[in-house]
Amino acid sequence: MPGIIVVGSQWGDEGKGKVIDVFSAQADFVVRYQGGANAGHTLVVNGVKTVLHLVPSGILHPKTTCIIGAGVVLDVEEVLSEISSLRAAGLLQAPEQLKISDSATVLLSYHRLLDAAREQALGHEKIGTTGRGIGPAYEDRASRKAILFGDLFEPESLRTKLEQSLKEKNFLLERYYDTKPVELEPLYKRLLEIADQLAAFRCKDASLLVHKALKSGKKVLFEGAQGTMLDLLHGTYPFVTSSSTISGSACIGSGIGPNAVQKIIGITKAYTTRVGSGPFPTELGGDLGERIRREGAEFGATTGRPRRTGWLDLVALKYAIRVNGITNLALMKLDVLSGHERIDVCVAYKLDGQEVKDLPTATGDLVRVEPVYKTLQGWNDDISQVRSIQDLPQPARDYIQFIGNEVATPIDVVSVGPGREQTLWIKPLFT
Ligand code: GDP
Ligand code: IMO
Ligand code: MG
Repeated sequence: MPGIIVVGSQWGDEGKGKVIDVFSAQADFVVRYQGGANAGHTLVVNGVKTVLHLVPSGILHPKTTCIIGAGVVLDVEEVLSEISSLRAAGLLQAPEQLKISDSATVLLSYHRLLDAAREQALGHEKIGTTGRGIGPAYEDRASRKAILFGDLFEPESLRTKLEQSLKEKNFLLERYYDTKPVELEPLYKRLLEIADQLAAFRCKDASLLVHKALKSGKKVLFEGAQGTMLDLLHGTYPFVTSSSTISGSACIGSGIGPNAVQKIIGITKAYTTRVGSGPFPTELGGDLGERIRREGAEFGATTGRPRRTGWLDLVALKYAIRVNGITNLALMKLDVLSGHERIDVCVAYKLDGQEVKDLPTATGDLVRVEPVYKTLQGWNDDISQVRSIQDLPQPARDYIQFIGNEVATPIDVVSVGPGREQTLWIKPLFT
């Protein structure tokens, strides 16, 4: 069955949005399966930039149906404002273009307030979350207290659920975190308005919709948010997000079986970035780190925070390939490395004097590792106008080949700029 998962192989912001937008030209469906408005996916078409947080990145293609699956925590205010911005820009004109699963978890103002309060209480130990309420919303889901998207359309039981939820949330906000409570009536009233405005996008059974699409041979893309190293179970815990970000989550979050998946495409920046706290073995401080940040415009699409920057880490990439089952890679932002005389690539770590090639799973170990670098020759020419792999300077081609060989995974796509046209294909997507 023609299902393709697109997953971030690093710490997020690899360029998943661009890849999904480009791939969507050939896809019938795009499904977001986890995360929430912590994601910031950027699409650039004819120089016009669109940043999406919840609406899937296939939305610029009117014939592609975009689905928000059960695994997503849906900030209803955010999705509403995203929908109205898209409509104001002349996009998303037909409600059939966007379907929201009745089983998605609703994320409300109190989740955001709790996220902020928890971060503040952690002080220097904070996770550096996006402040979008992601952790508290997933906690509600796991503890079986969540309000689901479908609940918005049952006014009576919604009121009871909200009352119950606010009892606990307000106790925490007022008594534990010493902040203001959330009032029931205005929130309830607002939710009824929101339900009215989102009713056209409602999908009672998104899993069935995706299943039928796959069964009838339609092309379905699964759009990951965040990245492998931010995975709740397999990332750099506790400096992670609150959902499973790895490819297995595509099945869980959209309600399909693993046998529907044909390809798993790992999106990888040609270097590494991370936002928020936590270990980052190849992080560069000083002028070099600053230069990559400036030339790569590495500022968060959701929070505007400067991203930490560093060289490409093949130990982490091999780990990502393993835990996701990545079959093919897309190498992004190669243009940003132009003009460096030498480019370092991390090929191993030193841990307590021993060389290791497998990523240590204990975060404490990952804090202590020293990267072992292989230095490759850089290139001077601006490559952002190049439109085929053959036209890249030899050192850039060597860089691509070196990475592919080291991680034993084919690189199918190379990106040399944010625009759709700045995409070099080595192999077609759907074969
Ligand atoms: P995502 O979260 O994985 O979708 O990535 P983000 O959108 O947060 O961050 C990627 C940033 O890099 C965005 O500003 C993109 O427009 C930009 N981008 C994507 N691919 C390329 C590329 O090949 N070169 C350059 N220079 N920018 C790119
Ligand atoms: P996209 O989809 C980069 C990071 C935060 C923080 C940690 C936990 O655009 O790649 P959270 O708000 O999720 O509780 O924050 O995860 N984080 C991201 N970093 N890209 C993202 O999404 C991220 N979403 C969350 O910075 O370190
Ligand atoms: Mg992003």
